[in-house]
Amino acid sequence: MTYQLALNWDDFLATYWQKKPVVLRQALAPFVDPLTADELAGMAMEEQIDSRLVSRCHGQWQVAHGPFTSFDELGETDWSLLVQAVDHWHPQAAELMEPFRQLPNWRLDDLMISFSVPGGGVGPHIDQYDVFIIQGMGRRRWRVGDRGQHPQHCPTPGLLQVPEFEPLIDVELEAGDILYIPPGFPHDGYALTPALNYSVGFRAPNQRELFSQLADQLIAQDGGNRRYADPDLTPRSASGCVTSEDIQRLRELMSSLLDDEAFACQLVQSLSEAKHELDLEPVDPPYAEGEILDLVLQDDVVLRLGGLRAFYLQQTPGTCFIHGEQFAVPAGAEALMRQLCDHTQLATGALRTALEEPAALAWFTMLINAGYWYFASDWQAEEVE
Ligand code: SIN
Ligand code: CO
Repeated sequence: MTYQLALNWDDFLATYWQKKPVVLRQALAPFVDPLTADELAGMAMEEQIDSRLVSRCHGQWQVAHGPFTSFDELGETDWSLLVQAVDHWHPQAAELMEPFRQLPNWRLDDLMISFSVPGGGVGPHIDQYDVFIIQGMGRRRWRVGDRGQHPQHCPTPGLLQVPEFEPLIDVELEAGDILYIPPGFPHDGYALTPALNYSVGFRAPNQRELFSQLADQLIAQDGGNRRYADPDLTPRSASGCVTSEDIQRLRELMSSLLDDEAFACQLVQSLSEAKHELDLEPVDPPYAEGEILDLVLQDDVVLRLGGLRAFYLQQTPGTCFIHGEQFAVPAGAEALMRQLCDHTQLATGALRTALEEPAALAWFTMLINAGYWYFASDWQAEEVE
């Protein structure tokens, strides 16, 4: 199903994005849950899928990690089951990410889904990332406080919480409502009735991550060999002093690395890595190029694998970054590459002209055979099996 988000993106970005939390009442109404609580529980039994059960017993928080073998022991209150990156495994749930592709895809992370029974939640906490929490089935009460000093503590391993806070927002969410929370705002939600919640999360690297990545890249490629040089040095009266000019020169030595094109490529390559496993299966036996052309004629839609990250750099259109790898885009395939990176679903009609170019067809065949993109009919056939 296609979800229509009732939101004025210009106003939202100018007023709320990264600035303040907001409740978007009935922004996804009428809301239809893309899965059931039972289906979610089934996913939490899978080895490859990350899941957690957060519960409270006599005021004591507990966290258990999946895969789970049974949920029979659970009571009717005070627990919440959270499953990460459901969009990687469940195409209908992945549809919930689509309305948010008005934002750059590299900022978008994954879809976490929780099922909570009355009283269930993860307690007051802070996230480092923007999140849209969509209310599905049921009702949940959410409180959001202001940014500021909220010392974090760990009531049990695997759970970070903050002390109680003064709420700016105190609401009950119903199906189709969305709560947007920027990074750093403490929040706490507990279910009033059995409830499903969908969190569309974003990612933003911090300086430490970026510099450590640069350092790794320099070490791996034996780069960064330019050394400090001062051919214009003159005698100094204060020999113990490191001057502002010296520091400026050192800074320039470091910052010139950041201007390097290879660094930009490396950055985007790492941004294209998924944080969670994908349902990636190479086509076996692989399609020949002629078969791909037949499929393009027969089939209506080509889909990008759930959770697959695919980007290109504005200034380097000959390179494409897919799932943590760099690919040279053959001449004549640039338009195809942009279509594939800009859209998660493509009408095959829009691809036919691009695929008349032999290099583009060969490249596209490689992407399909790798399992990165697939034909809608292949997926439907698998569903029936
Ligand atoms: C949830 O419990 O569904 C969302 C958890 C959160 O606030 O990050
Ligand atoms: Co949160």
